[in-house]
Amino acid sequence: MDQIIVRGGNTLRGEVEVSGAKNAALPILASALLADGEAIFRNVPDLVDVATMLKVLNVMGCEAERLTGKNKHVCRIKVGPGPINPEAPYDLVKTMRASVLVLGPLAARFGRARVSLPGGCAIGARPIDQHLKGLRALGADIVLEEGYVEARCKRLRGATFAFDMITVTGTENVMMAAVLAKGRTVLENCAREPEIEELAKVLNKMGARISGAGTGVITIDGVDSLKPVDHAILPDRIEAGTLLAAAAITGGDVLVKHAVPEHLDAVIQKLREAGCEVRAENGGIRCRGPKQLNAVDIQTREHPGFPTDMQAQLMVMMTVAKGTSVISENIFENRFMHVPELNRMGADIKVQAHTAVVKGVERLSGAPVMATDLRASASLILAGLRAEGRTVVSRVYHLDRGYERLERKLRSLGADIRRVKA
Ligand code: EPZ
Repeated sequence: MDQIIVRGGNTLRGEVEVSGAKNAALPILASALLADGEAIFRNVPDLVDVATMLKVLNVMGCEAERLTGKNKHVCRIKVGPGPINPEAPYDLVKTMRASVLVLGPLAARFGRARVSLPGGCAIGARPIDQHLKGLRALGADIVLEEGYVEARCKRLRGATFAFDMITVTGTENVMMAAVLAKGRTVLENCAREPEIEELAKVLNKMGARISGAGTGVITIDGVDSLKPVDHAILPDRIEAGTLLAAAAITGGDVLVKHAVPEHLDAVIQKLREAGCEVRAENGGIRCRGPKQLNAVDIQTREHPGFPTDMQAQLMVMMTVAKGTSVISENIFENRFMHVPELNRMGADIKVQAHTAVVKGVERLSGAPVMATDLRASASLILAGLRAEGRTVVSRVYHLDRGYERLERKLRSLGADIRRVKA
């Protein structure tokens, strides 16, 4: 297993390009199942989770591949004319819960699906009850057996359905199912992330009739068939936010190219409150970190609130801020696993249920630390950039699920960072 070694103290300066959005690429790749033919997706980040989704599509009988060389960020997916086996096996779903995003497309297109229940993960139980409730509302017959979801339906029928709570992939799954249903579907209490708008844009390019994506109410008028598309995926706002945080914590000055400011309003506001100078520039976002960060309080919320996927990164900044910061994680029940590792680096963080109280300290000291989940691993690297001495982050396979060679991007900005084979 690889490790990442960081020697702290360098100030990050320069320009860096953000990759395509993981959390848009995953549902969009699954949406290819909705149409026969060859789809082309560009700006697809080279991540382990994307490779897993391509595997899931191949196992079903699609031809799903990442091109090579200068086209390595292009994925080609050919569906049909051979038969599709509508099953997502446990050994793949257990490695990436977002594989459940094939459920809606399979039910809508083939009238049946057999998808392994994803099970929990490090950050929480993450059930998919809302996905199933939404599909049932569209007329799917859903049975759970032997750890699998079995969905059967003739043709799905449009319906009005309100989610009991806001769920990103739940909204995506049911929206994808509804595009081929008969009649109108109105989904209420939907998630509003930019990735959902991006998915709806792709589906409408395929011939779907969706309005309201990005708001709490999405209306879908079902069509009889869709066609494959060629689409370039939007930039990853969480990777962009992580790179801005790297500039903030090193007192640096970094331009994150292709980052979209309006996708990061809540994060930019907190960076500014913490003393950073943040502004849109040349089709990206520039962040200048202050000499001394100020403590700010954070409440994670559904979009457009402060994103839970940026909680760990902002917490690291707060460990060396002036004052005390109160951070509440309101989305997932177990997303403070980076705290013990940060405290081993000299941070002063106390956790009480869903709230972490972070008392700013003078300095962090490098240490061997262990990544536990995707965003926690990024936060440990950010801590290493600031800490005195050497930090060795192990289990970086967590990092590779959601960041494309983060250490190279940081090194190009002046960080003393390298990956070694353990
Ligand atoms: C998506 O996960 C993202 N993943 C996550 O990003 C992100 O943290 C999360 O949304 C919240 O923004 C992808 O888009 C692939 P949810 P998702 O359904 O859809 C509960 C990352 O780091 N819930 O919005 O799985 C659930 O337990 C990853 O890139 C139910 O109870 O999250 C959670 O507490 C991590 N029943 C809350 O809702 C359901 O049926 C929000 O979950 C669905 C969700």
